[in-house]
Amino acid sequence: MPCVVRHCGAILALVLGCHAEAAGDDDAGSESEGGSESEGGSESDGPSEWSSLDARPCPEDSILSWESFGGPYMLSYCTSCHGSALPADMRQKAPVGLDFERVEQVRTHADRIWARAADQNLTMPPAGAPGDEERALLGEWLACGAPLAAELE
Ligand code: HEC
Repeated sequence: MPCVVRHCGAILALVLGCHAEAAGDDDAGSESEGGSESEGGSESDGPSEWSSLDARPCPEDSILSWESFGGPYMLSYCTSCHGSALPADMRQKAPVGLDFERVEQVRTHADRIWARAADQNLTMPPAGAPGDEERALLGEWLACGAPLAAELE
């Protein structure tokens, strides 16, 4: 219904308007957008929303590495389906060849991983997605180029 769309527009304008007046600065540190009326509208209720991995900033002082973060994250949440050692019938329909146990694989698919699993994106893993903070760290690590520990020094 068109009236629904108009309604949302009005609310959104109000929310955004208030934000702009209250915050008054640029949108760099948008960590704090907690508004339940934000435009994503799905289950997500707080994480910052960037339109793509390219738009997602890398904090200058990021210390996340493949060893300390990315690898363990993939192991905890992804490689039980996206693992090259898994027989085809154990992948729970994860596309064959889309595997994340090596940093090169993650870098190759960083855009798609971000769009499904990091920051406001909640569709991977299909069930039991980690919390907002963990997904924000994944977004940060990917945005910084998915570095190895040695590349941070
Ligand atoms: C329970 C099994 C399972 C787990 C765990 C899982 N996935 Fe998936 N993944 C799938 C299936 C099934 C598909 C294909 C259907 C789809 O795209 O939704 C898929 C598709 C994808 C795609 C889409 C590729 C494309 O076509 O663009 C990406 C990216 C992805 N997964 C990333 C991840 C990441 C990152 C994690 C961990 C945070 C993860 N998945 C955890 C089963 C899983």
